[in-house]
Parts: sequence; C-alpha cells; structure tokens
Amino acid sequence: MNKKGLFITFEGVEGAGKTTLIKKLVAFFTEKQRDVFLTREPGGSELGKKLRSIILNADEKICPSAELFLFLADRSQHVEECIKPALKAGKIVLCDRFIDSTIAYQGYGRGMDIAQLTNFNTVATGGLEPHLTFLLDLLPERGLKRAKERNIEQNLTIDEGRFEAEALQFHQKIREGFLALAEQKKRFFIVNAEQDAEQVFCIAKQYLEENFLL
Ligand code: TYD
Repeated sequence: MNKKGLFITFEGVEGAGKTTLIKKLVAFFTEKQRDVFLTREPGGSELGKKLRSIILNADEKICPSAELFLFLADRSQHVEECIKPALKAGKIVLCDRFIDSTIAYQGYGRGMDIAQLTNFNTVATGGLEPHLTFLLDLLPERGLKRAKERNIEQNLTIDEGRFEAEALQFHQKIREGFLALAEQKKRFFIVNAEQDAEQVFCIAKQYLEENFLL
C-alpha cells in the first residue's frame, strides 16, 4: 500500500543550520526506505531556478512589492509542479523555507501587511500547509556569522547575499516574526539551533518518531 505523503518545512534566520539538518533527515528517511523529495524556496521548480537567480542577486534593484511577487510566483509554480505531485505519490517532502519565510521576511522584516501576505500565500499554495514546520531558532548575530563563514568557504559571491547584507536589526525582526508564528500555529516545533548539528538532528528525529507514524 502506498504510504501517505508528509510535508515538512524548515524555517529560521540566516545560518541557522537548516541545510545540515535537512541532509541528516534525508539519510534518516532513506534508511527507513521512505521516498524523500528534497526541495527549497526560492528555486524548487524549473521556473523557480530562474526566479531565484533574479531574486537573490543583490545588485538588482528590486522594490519590496516586486520582491514579494517573485517569491509568490516561485511558490505557485513550486506547489503545482513539484510539491503536490510528490505528496500525491506518498513521498516525504522536505522543503527548505516556505510560506512562513514570506511572513517573517516580507512581513516582519520589510513591514508589509501580515494579513494581506497571508492571503497572498493562500493564493500561491491553493491552501496547502505543511504538516510540520521545524523552526531552527538562534540569535541572528550567531546565524549571520555562520552564514558569512559558509559564503567564504563555498566561494559564494554577493549573489547569494541579498538578505545576508541587511542590518542586524532586520534579522532580529525576522526572528521575532518566526517566533510569533510558532506561537500561533500548532504545526511548529522549535529547536534551539545554538546546539551542535548532531544534537539538533536527534531532537528533530525524536519529535518525528513520537508524533508521526514513520
Ligand atoms: P537562501 O540562499 O536559500 O537562504 P537560506 O540558506 O538562509 O535559506 O536564500 C533565500 C533567501 O530568501 C533567504 O534570505 C530568505 C529569503 N526569503 C524571503 O525573503 N521570502 C520568502 O518567501 C522566501 C521563501 C525566502
């Protein structure tokens, strides 16, 4: 019998360690012989890859509403083309950032109206919500330090740095936004991302095992 799909998203400030956790969870699910679909926003679909290179190019002057609609266009295509079919096929979908990033970055960060953004998100997703959202929480100054080290290590240019280049205060607002969302929505599970990567993984794994039939 086909197993039911499971939709898990990962959120947090820059450098919180989402990528590392996701990699460990892919190995965990694969060991359990579950079919995993790994994806991210922006950039999950073919159209999204083109949008991602526009959005994250820090040289490009993009006004806040244009930036918002690029993220939403990416999400609309991603849900239709990738996420819905993967869930229908019974896969475990692991998505690096989703609707909550729009509320945190464009809402809390850029100051756009949260209620309106929530409606736009619903248009983009057709109402699809994750079953579970891991929020990797840590102080933005710690995250930014990690993100900078990663950029240097991976030889990334400014191209990957539109948001990393923002002032610390911007990232503090984003963290507040994520924490406010986590209080409102039951699907959130907050993990203290100050801990080392293996500890973060163990906590996430335990939560999954206790709350979802895997
Ligand atoms: P990315 O390189 O994927 O960053 P990270 O590794 O931190 O996830 O870049 C995505 C950036 O886009 C990130 O700074 C968050 C931002 N973002 C938004 O502002 N709004 C959104 O809706 C999404 C999905 C991402």
